[in-house]
Amino acid sequence: MRIVFGQPALPDADTLCVAALEGAKLTASGRTIDSEAGKGLMRAIKAARFTGKKGEGASVLAPSGTGLDRVYVFGLGKPKAIDAKCLQDAGGRIYDTLAKSGPTVTVAVDPIQGCPLTPAEMAAEIALGLRLKSYRFDKYRTKEKKEDKPTLKSVKLVCEGPASARTLFSPKDKIASGVFFTRDLVSEPPNVLYPATLARQARTLTSLGVKVGILGEAEMRKLGMDALLGVGQGSARDSRLVVMRWNGVRGKGSARGSSKRRAAPAGPLAFVGKGVTFDTGGISLKPSAGMQDMKWDMGGAGAVIGLMKALAGRKAKIDAVGVVGLVENMPGGNAQRPGDIVKSMSGQTIEIQNTDAEGRLVLADALWYCKERFKPRFMIDLATLTGAILVSLGQEMAGMFSNDDELCQRLNAAGKAVGEAVWRMPLSDEYDKMIKSDIADMKNIAGRWGGSITAAQFLQRFVDKTPWVHLDIAGMAWSDKATPLRPKGGTGYGVRLLDRFVADYYEDT
Ligand code: BES
Ligand code: MN
Ligand code: ZN
Repeated sequence: MRIVFGQPALPDADTLCVAALEGAKLTASGRTIDSEAGKGLMRAIKAARFTGKKGEGASVLAPSGTGLDRVYVFGLGKPKAIDAKCLQDAGGRIYDTLAKSGPTVTVAVDPIQGCPLTPAEMAAEIALGLRLKSYRFDKYRTKEKKEDKPTLKSVKLVCEGPASARTLFSPKDKIASGVFFTRDLVSEPPNVLYPATLARQARTLTSLGVKVGILGEAEMRKLGMDALLGVGQGSARDSRLVVMRWNGVRGKGSARGSSKRRAAPAGPLAFVGKGVTFDTGGISLKPSAGMQDMKWDMGGAGAVIGLMKALAGRKAKIDAVGVVGLVENMPGGNAQRPGDIVKSMSGQTIEIQNTDAEGRLVLADALWYCKERFKPRFMIDLATLTGAILVSLGQEMAGMFSNDDELCQRLNAAGKAVGEAVWRMPLSDEYDKMIKSDIADMKNIAGRWGGSITAAQFLQRFVDKTPWVHLDIAGMAWSDKATPLRPKGGTGYGVRLLDRFVADYYEDT
């Protein structure tokens, strides 16, 4: 779908979208159409009980006196309360309503008195919503009927200052591409997406200037990553560790004016992802009902890869690394057993009591490796780590665990700004004690209660003093219901959250 911006002008055919405010108050373009239609537009939306609240919408077909086929009126509520999220949602609803009604749509974005955003800013946010909602994963459908497919090919947003709307939209469009990449990766079936092919997908980021390195099993064995390798040893598919580096400061930007540059802050920003391309549970086999969901147990890795795509796509002025540990957790003659003891790259030993608590084993080595190799300013890991986080927080917020209050505050604010919420959960010595082992340095599961917390305590043993945040996204990576900004399926959760976090606190523009 093409998204273009143009000068204010109303089409005389086709479909037009106009905004309305609380009290069913039409904006200027709507009023123009209404008078052309002999007040027929107002009459029609009132008859549809449209009141102009945000989230509302009303379609009016072929208003007489105009050449238009359809006018879609979308509510934005109170002018003062209009914000990015409400405009993005409006864009998503426009897409949803009109995706199957024709090839082109015009959206009139008029100035709104009392609204904190300019028309160009509003247009860029509406465009982002349209883009995000337009995602589809349909590559495996060979028999979908033509009438079930979207027909919308091009959306034109008309507003004052279309050039500035275009400039504002450009980085947002790159972020959306990162989100789409993540959604694609979590949607792929596990016979297609496994460690080697996921690594290959990550490697496509080289075309954007990301340096991508891939470690195979032999290299990981040399480094002592037996915690990660143990998880993958029952699979016919070899494990991988992928390292992605985006140097937006040390790269091009540093060629000129080096004397004026401020001292580089210590280390890159680091993002680490759990990439279990399929989690059967291993010998501690999961029940078969719902096991297909475990194809998206690489959601953390998917988010990190999508984030790197977003950052590189919009040429973010930061240095970032993404590290993802990729394994398939299978039962089999060579699979890890409950009772096994493995030595992690850190030197710490782990008693495996349940082979289904595998994500933490993968992250143990990925986090340690990341810390040792890059000495990052901080590490943020994302993982579909525990079913218990769904019990705690449902599918509305990711669980956040951290040794650093400032990082938490920043993530909290970024999450609110983009509508990808996080909720901080506790860590403490008492919880840490619960993973003591009688025979090794620690065991990989604790008792029945507090499962998300004890999993986080386990990870903390592999970050040392590095400022660190763990986001348990088991409830967020996938959704069975659609929202204004996405269809059901892979959500792409984490990409916009972390992109915003980076943009607001680490990029000096
Ligand atoms: N990948 C799962 C967690 C999960 C569950 C993700 C549901 C998404 C939806 C993880 O590897 C796992 O199996 N965790 C176990 C840990 C337990 C054995 C301590 C769990 O949550 O039951
Ligand atoms: Mn598991
Ligand atoms: Zn898992």
